[in-house]
Amino acid sequence: MASVTGLEGIIAAETELSLVDGEKGYLVYRGYEAKKLALNKSFEEVAYLLWHGELPTEEILVNFRAQWSAHRSLSEILKAAINLLPLECDMMSVLRTAISFLGTESVKEAAWPPQYESVLAYTALVPTIIAYKYRQSLGLQPIEPNPELDHVANYLYMLTGTVPQPVHVKVLTAYFVLAMEHGMNASTFSGRVVLSTQSDIASALCASIGAMKGPLHGGAPSEVLHMLDEIGNKDRAETWLIEQLESGNRLMGFGHRIYKTSDPRAEALRQIMTELASEDPWFDLAIHVEKLAVDLLAVYKPGRKLYVNVEFYAAAVMRAIALPKSLFTPSFTASRMVGWTAHLLEQASCNRIFRPQSVYIGEMPADLQQP
Ligand code: ACO
Repeated sequence: MASVTGLEGIIAAETELSLVDGEKGYLVYRGYEAKKLALNKSFEEVAYLLWHGELPTEEILVNFRAQWSAHRSLSEILKAAINLLPLECDMMSVLRTAISFLGTESVKEAAWPPQYESVLAYTALVPTIIAYKYRQSLGLQPIEPNPELDHVANYLYMLTGTVPQPVHVKVLTAYFVLAMEHGMNASTFSGRVVLSTQSDIASALCASIGAMKGPLHGGAPSEVLHMLDEIGNKDRAETWLIEQLESGNRLMGFGHRIYKTSDPRAEALRQIMTELASEDPWFDLAIHVEKLAVDLLAVYKPGRKLYVNVEFYAAAVMRAIALPKSLFTPSFTASRMVGWTAHLLEQASCNRIFRPQSVYIGEMPADLQQP
């Protein structure tokens, strides 16, 4: 029987983009603590940091916003391609198909190395694709992008048709910044593997989206929403959690492969939600459940170091701004596009094809020696 490692603990690349320290609970983007960036910087500023290695000056930021937002509109041919997809097609499949289609539109561009202009175009287009298909699925007219609004505000605007409240933009920006980049996770690794063959950026992004779609990776925080809805109120919380743990079920939004302490992304989202939604009874319940769950997990799973993860408070953020569950993973993707593309540029700058080995555990022909 093969021992399945899932490449746990294997170093696949050196990166200047981010540090995920699971013991100390640090998440660092290019020398800055992600938690602080999420609370103080715009999505554009942090995207610029990841792509260019430094925060933009005011003047650079103005030009960068204009350059990036100029790529937001869907071409008629891309709209026609999306229109061919069934209305009930899940959004991650829509995104994968649309990016693949975009790869055929830009076929004349040099496939290698990936171009920065393509990075801007793909990352700008993803929120528009999501909003276009989402409104179509509801029988609503699409809303054209608004160049006056920043990346996150424009996303909410294109979904709803109204300019969002600043508080909603602030909280979603914090989540988007925290979800933007996270080391060598499965979707980032998939994209880097494809690009390492000197394949094109669209093919690499399709691989990343495919990996993100799986429930073990981009699995939406919708399960957390479901859990808290089922608990319903503080009085029921302890009994409900104990029942789950005694039945051998996992508590959604707790535990992480890397973090053996509180996930810093969850900490930051809790802080911002405390400032913005302290009166909300659902959020009050979430805080109560987190405290109880961490104590109970220490008793029922001693030594496992199970703490809250980003999904728990991502659910609170998405619920607070009324995003439907079907958009949780696509919204995560819209943000992670920045991290993926930063990794693709980095991979191209020091490329060597990925080619790990496997251990053969099958039969050998009788006349050959065992390896
Ligand atoms: N609730 C109860 N027990 C748990 C939980 C949990 N949330 N997470 C892990 N455990 C227990 C396991 O039952 C196991 O116990 P055992 O040794 O007695 O069998 C032990 O802790 C180790 O579990 P593993 O599955 O080996 O831990 P791994 O590091 O592989 O899993 C994972 C990490 C998948 C996130 C896990 O903690 C989990 O399933 N959490 C719940 C789902 C969730 O919140 N997912 C979002 C993660 S954040 C993100 O992906 C962006």
